[in-house]
Amino acid sequence: MIAAVQDQQPATQSLLPERVPRHVGIIMDGNGRWAKARGLPRTEGHRQGTENLRRVIKACVEFGVPILTIYAFSTENWRRPPLEVRLLLTILETVIDRELKELHENGVRIRHIGQTDRLSPALQKKIHDACEYTKDNQRLVLNVAFNYGGRDEIIQAVREVVRAGIPADDITEEVLNQHMYTSGLPDPDLIIRTSGEIRGSNFLIWQAAYAEYYFTPIYWPDFDREQLLEAIWEYSRRTRRFGQTDEQLDIPDE
Ligand code: FPP
Repeated sequence: MIAAVQDQQPATQSLLPERVPRHVGIIMDGNGRWAKARGLPRTEGHRQGTENLRRVIKACVEFGVPILTIYAFSTENWRRPPLEVRLLLTILETVIDRELKELHENGVRIRHIGQTDRLSPALQKKIHDACEYTKDNQRLVLNVAFNYGGRDEIIQAVREVVRAGIPADDITEEVLNQHMYTSGLPDPDLIIRTSGEIRGSNFLIWQAAYAEYYFTPIYWPDFDREQLLEAIWEYSRRTRRFGQTDEQLDIPDE
């Protein structure tokens, strides 16, 4: 009985390495509501959300997750009030300025996914330099989805394929994969969304075809190491069939 109860509780030592997701995507939602619930300005929610990102990156390294993709700014976020848009752009700049050295020392490789065209030349350069500076790091790939939209990504991939003159009959999943921002990386195994919203919001819509989703009511600033462990624990106990049957996968009856 005790063993069975223990079995229900997440603990780092009971995570089987082969059951830890190789690629986790996170829709970091709820900064604004976190702040509102405390009578604080939204900016404070984003500040706490940024602090939390450090904790979650650290926890990914601890749990052996090799790839993390965070949804930091969507193509739709430009519709927010100009002041908030400016703040979110500034946060990315500040995070790069303040955290780059430590991320690099901890073996984190930064990649950007999304369009850079609407970003200022200074921010574009900062992003480019951060990616270059960390490009040989191998402990954790941190994909920062910034000015990112899933449909937008598919459109630009199709454009590239057409421009490359690839004949229609030669267009396969592999070909399109090669033209996605995530080219060379495995698809996300687990996508987490915080704050109680139960939707995908244009995040990695091509890559998430077989992803497991985990939704939690916890607002992003409170989604800490324990919460991540809980999500990975739940993921590790799910059966992924990829369209096949239990018999094909040799899964015993319940
Ligand atoms: C959602 O909260 C969060 C965002 C729009 C992104 C902000 C993310 C951070 C500040 C973390 C670090 C970011 C970077 C750039 C590395 P919300 O404002 O949608 O919350 P609400 O739905 O409660 O209003």
